[in-house]
Amino acid sequence: MSEKKQPHDVEDTGHEWDGIRELKNDPPRWWLIGYFLSPVFIVVYLILYPSIPLINDYTRGLLGWTQIDEYNESLAQLKIIREPFEKKIEALSAQEILSDSEMKRYAELSSKVTFGDHCGACHGSGGQGKPGFPILADDDWLYGGTLETIIETITDGREGEMPAFGDQLSEREISDLVAFVIASSKGERSPAGHDVFMGETSGEANCVDCHGEEAKGDHDMGSANLTDKIWRFGGSEEAIRRTITYGVNQDGKMTRRAIMPTFGTKLKESDIKKLAVKVWSFGGGQKPQEE
Ligand code: HEC
Ligand code: HEC
Repeated sequence: MSEKKQPHDVEDTGHEWDGIRELKNDPPRWWLIGYFLSPVFIVVYLILYPSIPLINDYTRGLLGWTQIDEYNESLAQLKIIREPFEKKIEALSAQEILSDSEMKRYAELSSKVTFGDHCGACHGSGGQGKPGFPILADDDWLYGGTLETIIETITDGREGEMPAFGDQLSEREISDLVAFVIASSKGERSPAGHDVFMGETSGEANCVDCHGEEAKGDHDMGSANLTDKIWRFGGSEEAIRRTITYGVNQDGKMTRRAIMPTFGTKLKESDIKKLAVKVWSFGGGQKPQEE
């Protein structure tokens, strides 16, 4: 920089406030250079890049750069990075993916968007469930939480079926059953309701055929476990009465709707594998029965 002038050597504008004079110094050199270069930069930019909107078009710039091209290029790069992983996923079974920490991580991360697009609306973005749709992140399973059953659920869909008992059972029998279900969920006993449940009263309810002697449900048909506090359709007296009276996926407005759509035709096999690993890893995944 040039030698600094002392304030008294510099002309001032004649303005003075409390002894501070406004001097007529030239602006710094770097500032001036920037000042004169900026219009040059603007002109060069206008020539090289798309910039000025026209009526039906826009000036495209000599470089031919567009944001979409840039996006497509990075997408293509991403595909190149993913390709070996995707090939491996196709070749491996879901169980093998799960046992390989790198592939497991890839499966979980790369299925995030698929899960959000196809599953999140019903099951919540993290599998936390929503009213009327089961939680996937717990270890309470209707159909079982092994990789195999999860893949089966996603591929073929599920539709729980429970008959409507409203016409078959007396008011009394239904009330006893409601009391029985509530008691069971708390680990308590309810002898009157137990008799109805076992089909030992005149209405011959066959609850036991589907829910089992212990009322813990059966994964083969997705009959809910009645001995826990996790409810598919609500655990109030009213909600349980409605389920028993109108059944699940039967005719009529009051029946409970429980339909898990089929994804076997909508998603690739490898996408389903990745989703199964993701659902398993939400926390409730179970080991295969043999182990
Ligand atoms: C339209 C809503 C809907 C969508 C979308 C949906 N599900 Fe489901 N899902 C359900 C319902 C309802 C059930 C329970 C079925 C039943 O009660 O019989 C279910 C059950 C399941 C189960 C079985 C849970 C258990 O306890 O055994 C799994 C696993 C599952 N869904 C995974 C998925 C995945 C993965 C996707 C995305 C590919 C998905 N679902 C998309 C509604 C949906
Ligand atoms: C044909 C098999 C079948 C029979 C018989 C049956 N259920 Fe069910 N029940 C199911 C299925 C399947 C579900 C779970 C539906 C689902 O979530 O998809 C279910 C669900 C329920 C639920 C809802 C539990 C919750 O978490 O919200 C209750 C309560 C229930 N059953 C009670 C009974 C009682 C009481 C009887 C006897 C009167 C009975 N069921 C008979 C198959 C059956």
